[in-house]
Amino acid sequence: MEKQELRTFGRRHGKKLSIRKTMLIENLLPNLQPKAPEITTNPILEIGFGNGEHLRDLAIQNPNNMVIGAEPFVNGVAALLSAITDEKDNSVLTEYKNIRVHPDDVRLLLHNEQFTNVTFSEIWILHPDPWPKARHEKRRLLNADFLTLLSKHIDNNGKIIIGTDHWEYYDWIQEQIKSTNLKIISTNLDIIKTRYQIKNKANTVAPKYLILSI
Ligand SMILES: C[S@@+](CC[C@H](N)C(=O)[O-])C[C@H]1O[C@@H](n2cnc3c(N)ncnc32)[C@H](O)[C@@H]1O
Repeated sequence: MEKQELRTFGRRHGKKLSIRKTMLIENLLPNLQPKAPEITTNPILEIGFGNGEHLRDLAIQNPNNMVIGAEPFVNGVAALLSAITDEKDNSVLTEYKNIRVHPDDVRLLLHNEQFTNVTFSEIWILHPDPWPKARHEKRRLLNADFLTLLSKHIDNNGKIIIGTDHWEYYDWIQEQIKSTNLKIISTNLDIIKTRYQIKNKANTVAPKYLILSI
C-alpha cells in the first residue's frame, strides 16, 4: 500500500467467533488466498464484500471465472467461509470452488507486484463505507486516485460496478470520476440485496448504481 493511503474501513473484529468459524479462518483461509498464476480468464473482484452474499451469488453466476473477494472485517470473512463450506466436513461446496479471499485492504492486493498486471472483467463495490462526517471524507475509498488504480485493473470490456444508498457519496463519486479516465456507461442495475442494502441506514428509497468503463 502507498504510504500516504488512509484507512478506509471501520472495525476489523466484531463479536467472538464460533469454534467452527475460528477453525475455518485458521485452516481454510490460507488455502483460499488468491495467487496470480491461477487468476486467469476474466476474473471478477468484489471489494468490501461484507458477509459475502453478493460474492456467493457472483460465484454461482460465473462458474468459469475466478471470483476474488477483498474484506478486512474478520467476522465478514468468517461468515463467508461458513456459508461456502459443508457443515459436516468443512470442505468448500462445489458451487463455490471458484472463490478466493483476500482478508485485508484491497489496495494491498492491487499494489502487490504479483497482481500489477492482472485485469478483471468486473469489479464490484457495493455499499462502500460512506464516511458521512466532513472530517472523515478523506477516508472515502472511491476517491479519484483509487478509481484511477481500478481503471488499470479492468480490461477494455471491463466494468466497475458501484452501488450505494448514500446519495451524497454517490454525487461525490461522480465528481471524482471527472478526474479519471473512466466513463459512466449506465446507472441501471437489478441485483440481489446485500445485508447493508436491507439495513438501509441512509433510509433512502433504493441504492443508486454507477457502471464505469475505460
Ligand atoms: C458498509 S460495508 C458493505 C458490505 C457489503 N458490500 C454489503 O453491501 O453488505 C463496507 C465494507 O467495505 C469494507 N472495506 C472498507 N474499506 C476497504 C478496503 N480498503 N478494502 C476492502 N474492503 C474494504 C469494510 O470492511 C466493510 O465491510
